[in-house]
Parts: sequence; C-alpha cells; structure tokens
Amino acid sequence: MPLGCTEFTEFFPLGLCELCESLFIKINTSGGSGFYPMKIAIIGPGALGLLLATSLAGANENTVWLLDHSPERAAAINGKLLLNIDDQEFSVPLPVTSNPEAIGKTDLVLLCVKSMDVAPALQHIAPLFSRNTLLITFQNGIGHIDPVANSTIAPQAAFGVTSQGATLIAPGQVRHGGTGLTKIGFLRPADPHLHQQLNTAALILTASGFETVTVNNIQDHLWGKLLINIGINALTVIHDCPNGKLLDIPEAREALIAAVQEGEKVARTLGIHIENNPVDLTLGVCRTTAANISSMLQDARRKRPTEIDAINGALVEKARKLSLNVPVNEDLIKKVKEIQAHYHG
Ligand code: PAF
Repeated sequence: MPLGCTEFTEFFPLGLCELCESLFIKINTSGGSGFYPMKIAIIGPGALGLLLATSLAGANENTVWLLDHSPERAAAINGKLLLNIDDQEFSVPLPVTSNPEAIGKTDLVLLCVKSMDVAPALQHIAPLFSRNTLLITFQNGIGHIDPVANSTIAPQAAFGVTSQGATLIAPGQVRHGGTGLTKIGFLRPADPHLHQQLNTAALILTASGFETVTVNNIQDHLWGKLLINIGINALTVIHDCPNGKLLDIPEAREALIAAVQEGEKVARTLGIHIENNPVDLTLGVCRTTAANISSMLQDARRKRPTEIDAINGALVEKARKLSLNVPVNEDLIKKVKEIQAHYHG
C-alpha cells in the first residue's frame, strides 16, 4: 500500500510522493484534503450503504450521492440521513435519489446492496459508469462474485471486505457499531487507471474514518470473512440471539465450530489461503461483537429474504462440485429456510 512510503507520509499525508512510482494520487495544490475529490455514488440504503454515505459526506470535498431503488423511500430520506455514533446523532444532508440519470457519470461507485440484488442493481446503475469509473462491491458471502465478474457494466470491478459494524435503525438512520479494517482489491489484474482509482478510494475512505487498505489477494479475504459469516449468521437466526450468545448455548457453539471447519475444508481444497485459525477467529468475533444483531438476524426480524444462499448456500454448492460433505451447513440452510417460510403466518 502506498501509505508505506516514508517520503509520502512525511511531506504529504494524503498526497502524491513524486519520488515513488507506486503512488498515483495528485497533490491538490490549492490546499484541502491533498487529493482531487471524487464524485461518488453509494448504492443501497442498508446499514453499510448509509454508514459509508454519511461518513464520506462529512469528509473531504467529494460529491456524494446515495441511490435507493425505491422512489418513495428516496424522497422520504433525501437530505435527512442520520448517523448515530456512541448515542450521539448527526444529521447528514446528503442527496438521495432513485434515478441514476440524476447523478450521471461518477468516479467511484460503492455497491452495498444484498448479494441477491447485485445483478439487477448493476443493470439499473449503468448510467453512472464511464470507462474511468471504479466499482467496489461490498457483500457478505461469495454468491456475488460471479454476477459481478461476468457483468458487462463493470467487468473490472474491485471487491471489498469490511469489519465495520453498522445497524440500520430506521429508513435513512444508521448506528455505527464499531470500527474495523476494510480491504479492497481486484480479483484479476485491472487496467492501470483503475488501480489508481482504487488507491485513491482507499485514501478517501481512510480519510473518512473507514481505515482501508488495498490488497492483491481479495479472494482469500472474501473467504476469510465468509467463514466467519458461515459460523455466526445462520445460527443467530436459528437461536434468535445476538452474536455473543452463541458462545453460551452449547449446541450453537458446537454447530458454529463444525460449520466453520466444513467451510475451511472446502476453502483449502479450492486452494484458498486461509490465515489464522478460522474457528478461533469466529469465536473471537462473537466475543468482540457480542451485542451485535447479525445482518442475517436483522433481515429475519424484518421478515426480509436473508443472504443464506450467498453464505452457507454458496459453500454447499462449492462442496458439491468437489464431492465434499458439509452436513452441518446443509442443516443450517434448511433451518433458516424453514424460518423464512413462516415469515407470514
Ligand atoms: O453479517 C454480519 O452481521 C457481520 O458480518 C458479522 C461479522 C457476523 C458481525 O455481526
């Protein structure tokens, strides 16, 4: 990551080191934030989309828009977003629209819709793209990888993994639940100008309070996060409890460990590099996010479709192709689908 360059950090905390070829950010000599601002569109007014939108809007000189596919909700929350941090509420007068034409071409698009909504969302947001636009897509699981990688709208998209905590309180209102590192990177080498955009995006996100690094093995990181979601999300729905409670319910803890071990077996068979012990990591996340309501439980409580197919479902699909048995994950899927089937009576 270019931030490692000492010349760079010494003279221009967020600017270009003219001595170091790995840096691409131009110095904004008029003062200000140190790099040319971007026009940014955030897609999806869920917890992460709102957290990104409200954080980016408050920092630098970027132009930030939020795109919501629902015209009614977009009109209701337009200019009235609320960010809650440590029980303090900040009002963020950010433009929200359902019409991508109203935004026009952008430098950076952050796609924060649910995994199952990725393909239709990409079609809808085509007007935001020029050949210089960078898409960074943030979803749980691995179900979105193929739809994004095969899309004609942004075939050279970058993928993001974040440990930032966010809870949707009401339409347009988000609570920041804790900071964590965000990693962004390309699955395959992209054009040099998109690598430049990625570096700029990392700097802008970091300056907005989202500590972000670029990585060249994003697939490993997507799988690392997947294993954590495999162990936590479905079980919080089945036991209707916050993440930390899974440690206190013996059968939940046992299923968590077995589900993550199945996931690790599939990952290693696929040649994914898994750092650290994923079971310990997942148990650790339960402890550090003990009071969190997982994203899947937030969906289940709102009686919305969950990301079970993109998380445990995607794992089972990979396992089948490799002729590996993953019975615990199959059981978790069955139980979550039963709960979804009874949403409406
Ligand atoms: O999906 C979520 O809720 C989060 O990824 C995690 C890590 C399980 C914490 O709640």
